[in-house]
Amino acid sequence: MARPHIEFVHAQCVDWNLRADGAQEKVLNADPLTDEATLIVRYPAGYSAPANTADSGAEEFFVLDGAIDIDGEERRAHAYGFLPQASGLGRRHTAQGAVLLVFRHAAGDPNAMAGMAEAVAVDTPQIPWDVSTYDPKLIHLRLARKVLRLGPNDSGRTFLLTGMAHGVPAEGTLLPAEMHDHAEEMFMLQGAMWAPEGRMGAGAYFYRPPGILHGPHVSEYGFLQIMRSPGANAIVTHWSDVHKALPVGVPYCPVLPEGTPPEWARNMPAESNW
Ligand SMILES: [Fe+2]
Repeated sequence: MARPHIEFVHAQCVDWNLRADGAQEKVLNADPLTDEATLIVRYPAGYSAPANTADSGAEEFFVLDGAIDIDGEERRAHAYGFLPQASGLGRRHTAQGAVLLVFRHAAGDPNAMAGMAEAVAVDTPQIPWDVSTYDPKLIHLRLARKVLRLGPNDSGRTFLLTGMAHGVPAEGTLLPAEMHDHAEEMFMLQGAMWAPEGRMGAGAYFYRPPGILHGPHVSEYGFLQIMRSPGANAIVTHWSDVHKALPVGVPYCPVLPEGTPPEWARNMPAESNW
């Protein structure tokens, strides 16, 4: 695992690349040593493809827009799925076109192979929010979540996280920062959250390797995001002794991997989600 820290870019600033199969994609973050990556894929109307080949890595996806039939089941916006490697799954067709956020697992990852990992298909709007288990240090965000997947052997969790509007403590409040022993990854589906790196609006994306101090985070008007915690199924947070000022209104100041195109770091007032 050697995915670089990127925190954060707006996907709207990343160009589409046309693939040989007619789909377009934008790669947001990738492991330079494997084919593990997070990308957005836009399938044109009428697109069809056979099942994933046995040597291509597991495909984890979340439908951002449109609708696509995968393995005979229509997946509409906010559908989530996990297709293990070598499962014979992934045959797809879209009549109207569809945009998917894709978390591609490394080919050969034993925790993502058929037989070890189970296929998942969830119509996420139909499952209930869990409001029971949040850290008291995050009470100001009024969080709720939906767990979409728990990987085998503690290999990572994927979940939706939402926070209510007015998630900003009183002016002058200081909050601790946090750190984890596992990676964290996030795509903002709706709304916005302030971080020390700026305002993460719809389309914001970060990949944060283990051991990086981050936050605090606050939200004026609420948010909905999809998150992953590669390397752990349960988030364990180490809180800093030092408390920091609320980041509301801070300028955009991202951490970017070396070689990131400068246009990725435009300060994007989010109007569309990708
Ligand atoms: Fe965190």
